[in-house]
Amino acid sequence: MYLDNAATSYPKPEAVYEAVLRTMRDVGASPGRGGYRQSLESGRILFNARETIADFFSISDSSRIIFTQNATGALNLALQGTLSAGDHVITTTMEHNSLLRPLYALRNKGVELTIVAAGRDGVVTVESIRRAVQVNTRMIAASHVSNVCGAVQPIQRISDICRETGALFLVDAAQSAGYLPIEAERLAIDLLAVPGHKGLLGPSGTGFLYVAPRVLLKPVIQGGTGTHSTAEEQPLIVPDGFEAGTHNLPGLAGLTAGVEFIRERGLLELHRYEQGLLGQAEHALKNISGVTVYGPEIPSERCSVLSFTADGIDTALLAVELDHVFDIAVRAGLHCAPRAHQTLGTYPGGTLRVSPGCFTTSEEIDFFTDAVVQSVRKIRTSV
Ligand code: ALA
Repeated sequence: MYLDNAATSYPKPEAVYEAVLRTMRDVGASPGRGGYRQSLESGRILFNARETIADFFSISDSSRIIFTQNATGALNLALQGTLSAGDHVITTTMEHNSLLRPLYALRNKGVELTIVAAGRDGVVTVESIRRAVQVNTRMIAASHVSNVCGAVQPIQRISDICRETGALFLVDAAQSAGYLPIEAERLAIDLLAVPGHKGLLGPSGTGFLYVAPRVLLKPVIQGGTGTHSTAEEQPLIVPDGFEAGTHNLPGLAGLTAGVEFIRERGLLELHRYEQGLLGQAEHALKNISGVTVYGPEIPSERCSVLSFTADGIDTALLAVELDHVFDIAVRAGLHCAPRAHQTLGTYPGGTLRVSPGCFTTSEEIDFFTDAVVQSVRKIRTSV
């Protein structure tokens, strides 16, 4: 039983598998690289992917969506493509290494970094971010939802600080895209990094960065774009100049199908359903003696994941027990976010994280929580 949708969603809607297969088998060519029928059809698939995503995130100009391999690729492009020595960046302790590691590397090149501590519930206060602003603050970079405890950050109010100070606003939507509505332009998000393989239900190897018109982005990869071929310098035109090389077209066709599936079912409908599953899991887990659930107290301030520990039990051991005995897939440990665990008080052991998806059933959650009860009992009696 798969309960690690925060890492990669699985299974996908049937339409996603069909779109991948159809694109590979019946189209097959590189978009924008030829005038023949198959290449033109590839171009249409690519354009349709951009338009579908732009519509989903309320973005008026789909050419400002740059496809990447995943959210990590999008974050690297956003950071390396905008920051220079002397710039100051504010981020938070709740970030994933996909945001922090590129920032540490940039710090080694002269970018100044302030990492604002979230509260014990994983939520960052707007006041603490405001206090960190300096005259050279060029960017505020924050995740929308914590991949460790599901804490939803106050991005509207952080955006207000960016508007007041002129700083760029980078949002890591790795755990919120497909779970919460994100209207990129209304929220004045300058850079939105999104994976295709999580909440949007697309294949692995897909993702994108939305870049607002006011952002002057430098390319981080040079290569063929199918346009301006005589130029020695990388064209600075969106999106082509930032998507050198052949696209993952089957993946993007699948991603389009994933987004269309969410649209048809209704994002809020799916959100309500998944929140119900998380609530069910939380209620049962909290009835187990010595179990602590992390993140904001109020369930509506959390989404997509539930993290917990059981007193005296190694979370990795519990995950192995759930896998080997019950065939349940969940993620234990630090979730590539060590500072988030320090903030929550779960470092270095980490937590056990469960993340249902839109195809998870209530019966499966019951099976999972019963398995936790049995595993905790077994581990406790064996030590
Ligand atoms: N970033 C993914 C996770 O949180 C892989 O599990």
